[in-house]
Amino acid sequence: MFNKLDLSKELTGRRALVTGGTRGIGAAIAQRLLDAGAKVVVAARTRSDDTPAAATFVAGDVSTSEGVEAVATQALAALGGLDILVNNAGGGRAFLEGSWTIPDKAWHDSFALNLFAAIRLTNAVLPALRASKAAAVVNISSAAATMPFGPFAHYGAAKAALEYYSRTLAMELAPSGIRVNVVSPGVISTPGSDEFARTTPGFSTDDWTRNIPLGRLGATEDIAEVVALLVSGRGKFLTGANYRVDGGMTAR
Ligand SMILES: NC(=O)c1ccc[n+]([C@@H]2O[C@H](COP(=O)([O-])OP(=O)(O)OC[C@H]3O[C@@H](n4cnc5c(N)ncnc54)[C@H](OP(=O)(O)O)[C@@H]3O)[C@@H](O)[C@H]2O)c1
Repeated sequence: MFNKLDLSKELTGRRALVTGGTRGIGAAIAQRLLDAGAKVVVAARTRSDDTPAAATFVAGDVSTSEGVEAVATQALAALGGLDILVNNAGGGRAFLEGSWTIPDKAWHDSFALNLFAAIRLTNAVLPALRASKAAAVVNISSAAATMPFGPFAHYGAAKAALEYYSRTLAMELAPSGIRVNVVSPGVISTPGSDEFARTTPGFSTDDWTRNIPLGRLGATEDIAEVVALLVSGRGKFLTGANYRVDGGMTAR
């Protein structure tokens, strides 16, 4: 069956929302879904030069309830419904002295962006997903969720909570045919992560590469390919799982 598959038409007629789809991993996901024939809305606070040209941009800060509401309303209006939700917007800055130096506000901000954004947006678009014939949600976590590391404790803890939430949601929505999965990138080369390695004392891409069994950083397309599989018909028996796309980094 699969050798007759035309990947350029696999998602024809499907409507997708990708948060943080203006650059980095999210832009690669949006482009991959467009290449498979989907209609795609990307949401972020600002458009960037890397935003896929064929995607519709909607503005909103998904770390706030108001921003989530604005994104959901604009995306549903632009697409006329929703089949695919990719909660990708996320991130966090390092506190190099250790977890005890992370201020309260940074913990709150991290949970707002890396956990609550996905929960609130999923809840806001759930009626549209229930109306879809083949709905799929993918939440983007991180290898940081399973690798204790003080400078990013606020980030890893929020992503770990996102993984638990995603499994719970997958069980709740399975009877409705809505599939929910997680993709956990390892170290992926993006303008943001490259800049971080260049400018942060004690971090370098060479050190990261030494810890990756496949011997290279990930590319944004490595993540996009797995997301495309998960939201497509090829992934129709996949739900409640966490796909680690990290060159073997967390397998040790
Ligand atoms: N790169 C890595 O090595 C790596 C590793 C593991 C996991 N991840 C995860 O993968 C996802 C994407 O990472 P990335 O490296 O591609 O990030 P990135 O290059 O920093 O891009 C982040 C995207 O999210 C948007 N965004 C950030 N804050 C937002 C907010 N409050 N509201 C709406 N949009 C917001 C950004 O646009 P605006 O700034 O204009 O809003 C941008 O489109 C994140 O969840 C990250 O935690 C990345």
